[in-house]
Amino acid sequence: MPEPTCADRPQEQPARRPANRVLVLFGATGDLAARKLLPGLFRLFQLGLMPERFAIIGSGRHAPDDFTGLVAKALDVDPDDGGEEWERFAATLSFVVSSAEDGADLAEAIIRAEAEIDADGDRLVYLSVPPKAAPDMVAMLGRTGIAPGCALVVEKPFGHDLASAKAFNATLHEVLPEEAIYRIDHFLGKEPVQNLLALRFANGIFEPIWNRDHITSVQIDVPEALDIEGRAGFYEQTGAFRDMVVTHLLQILAVVALEPPSRIDPEALHRERTKVFESLVRLDAGRAVFGQYDGYRDSDGVADDSQVETFVALEARIDTWRWAGVPFYLRTGKALAEGRRTVTIAFRPAPLRVFGGAAPDGSTRPSELVLELSDDPRAAIHVQAKVPGPGLRLGPAAFTLDVGADFRQDGFEAYARLLHDVMTGDRLLFTRSEQIEALWAAAQPLLDAPPPLVSYPRGSWGPQEAQALVPAPGWRLPEADIAGLS
Ligand code: BG6
Repeated sequence: MPEPTCADRPQEQPARRPANRVLVLFGATGDLAARKLLPGLFRLFQLGLMPERFAIIGSGRHAPDDFTGLVAKALDVDPDDGGEEWERFAATLSFVVSSAEDGADLAEAIIRAEAEIDADGDRLVYLSVPPKAAPDMVAMLGRTGIAPGCALVVEKPFGHDLASAKAFNATLHEVLPEEAIYRIDHFLGKEPVQNLLALRFANGIFEPIWNRDHITSVQIDVPEALDIEGRAGFYEQTGAFRDMVVTHLLQILAVVALEPPSRIDPEALHRERTKVFESLVRLDAGRAVFGQYDGYRDSDGVADDSQVETFVALEARIDTWRWAGVPFYLRTGKALAEGRRTVTIAFRPAPLRVFGGAAPDGSTRPSELVLELSDDPRAAIHVQAKVPGPGLRLGPAAFTLDVGADFRQDGFEAYARLLHDVMTGDRLLFTRSEQIEALWAAAQPLLDAPPPLVSYPRGSWGPQEAQALVPAPGWRLPEADIAGLS
């Protein structure tokens, strides 16, 4: 009998060169542009994945003295002697002043540039501005005629609560159809997050056990060693819950929890992700810990009495047949002991202790599938195995998957991948308005009445209260604490 296949499944095509277009970067002198967007665009350029002809227009309230020099610094090249590739890239750069009140010069500059490069693709407009500034900027894009025919990329957090997210979505929809809006959550562009989809749905071994009958809990743990690093302006408005949890961590949760899609395409995945978010039980302040690292209030731009949380740990629940009763523990924070992005799926213990030994007292870790969502994606299934030698002594061991070593090929950095997707109109890895609203609805109780803020020392694993959230054997990280693991 022929193998069942999904009808009309599009075959994955090799990465292609997008059509000629103008790219407008609002926030081009900011932190995100320097760390991710400009390096991402340059990487695509080096790989021949930028359009044949393009122009990058940086824009903002104040023109920097030397925009090209600033870009060179972000790319770590010598602006005067950066090589032929850099010179060609630098020739595409310009900066035009604009603001929410006045975008006339920018609109003119875009039209001029489009004529010069024979643009035949949608202009890409990247709105990397603080959440409160975004709605007025979108209105300006509508008024000046920049928006029609553009692909608009917006950065999280989308709004700051349910009401503002709905209002922002309405503003966006006044100027553009949903299909032209790319809500970026760069965690979805990370190779290992996509690999999680591949592991789950390209193999037959995981799905039969991927449910409440076999899984006892899931941990999504994203500690960061870095602190707010001069981003007080953004962080004081946002905090860890909005910056990381309502966005990146819950997006990872959706990839772990979604039902098998009928195919891997934007519509099918979107439907399944939305169903997860709609089934999220409203978060409970009694099962959440908010922390602030010692010294945060001394940072430039932070209020002396700031109540902004730099750490969150919480328990989330999903009301579906697959996940009823399974806690999802989420944790993230700044200035912690280690920088990791680790997903741990814990499985039920064997029903009988045929090897004897002491009854599990909670200190022994169960079998766990551990996924490292790092630039060097790795996964391991941790099990009990026989220790070599006489007798039948058991110890911890692991089956491991090392994607980098297996494929001998580097992945794309998330932003480069997602910028390329926008230029080729691939919406697979972007979130949509209904998802954002469902997420804010689940998050609203914690926004209305957050748990008390507890302080924690820099370089620690956060407040003690967060340890108590997860029953024994507790958080998988730090792994140094796990007996038998070196
Ligand atoms: C960003 C947050 O979206 O993600 C930052 O605003 C955070 O606060 C960053 O540090 C983490 O992303 P990555 O890719 O560096 O792990």
